[in-house]
Amino acid sequence: MLELTGVSRRFGTHTAVDSVTLSIPEGQMVGVIGRSGAGKSTLLRMINRLTAPSDGEIRFKGKPVSSLTGTSLRNWQRDCAMIFQQFNLVPRLDVLTNVMLGRLNHRSTVLNMLSIFSPQERAMALMALERLGIVQTALQMAGTLSGGQQQRVAIARALLQQPKLILADEPIASLDPLNAQIVMDALRDINSQDGITVITNLHTLDTARTYCERIIGMAGGKVVFDGAPGELSTEAVRMIYGAGNDGAEISEAITSTSITPRPAAVQPTKSTGPLQAAHRAKARSGIALPA
Ligand SMILES: Nc1ncnc2c1ncn2[C@@H]1O[C@H](COP(=O)(O)OP(=O)(O)OP(=O)(O)O)[C@@H](O)[C@H]1O
Ligand SMILES: [Mg+2]
Repeated sequence: MLELTGVSRRFGTHTAVDSVTLSIPEGQMVGVIGRSGAGKSTLLRMINRLTAPSDGEIRFKGKPVSSLTGTSLRNWQRDCAMIFQQFNLVPRLDVLTNVMLGRLNHRSTVLNMLSIFSPQERAMALMALERLGIVQTALQMAGTLSGGQQQRVAIARALLQQPKLILADEPIASLDPLNAQIVMDALRDINSQDGITVITNLHTLDTARTYCERIIGMAGGKVVFDGAPGELSTEAVRMIYGAGNDGAEISEAITSTSITPRPAAVQPTKSTGPLQAAHRAKARSGIALPA
């Protein structure tokens, strides 16, 4: 359970997030929607402490997150993986290494300095890439991949963190509709199969409706809607998108990407055991693993 109580963030005189109180049970898939500047990114960044709250408290399983420092802060940041609109990969490193970077906070500083990854870590990375359908790109430089493939690499890297939460900030905003669908399907599958809580900021209302069991609408830094997609009435949509200073009304159609999800969740990787799965992934990628 993630609990935010009266959480605010001010930048100078501007209040970006204004006294937000929320409680998110483990395993929920939550979409955060709102106009540009509503405070969505600031909210996510406070959860993983990329930004410190000005006021209020954030707790995870009862433990305060908002006051963590040093190693405990790094451990918390490992527990909540971030996915960004611009993927944040290292373009000149190969895909496999980019994915293994998700292990950095699990390892000793010496191993990190020597950039030595164990065969187990390579196997984990290959399995994550296979799960996301891009294991054949393992040896390619990350910068040469399409946007949709790069976002899947970023998701694989997030999986290697073995996170408790995935925080995705507009993960599909730079993608075409087909890739947007692939990435949202992947996030949903991770949520439903691994039980990892996913909190994702989304620009498009229809994506939030389609993929998220709970929608949080923000306007002017405040939560103005919190409920199931079915409860999102025209009035609520107007409150979220149409109550700006300019008084402009927003039609749902212009926030639409028209993406259609696959009807069924991704098939779980054939569950003959992790080693077999790693070797299947190895066979497809052409990468050698110890027997
Ligand atoms: N580091 C910062 N310094 C100053 N102001 C900031 C900073 N970060 C965010 N803000 C301001 O806080 C408000 C909320 O920003 P935030 O990025 O959280 O909005 P958002 O809902 O994510 O918008 P978008 O949909 O455009 O990504 C904005 O007015 C923004 O200008
Ligand atoms: Mg943002």
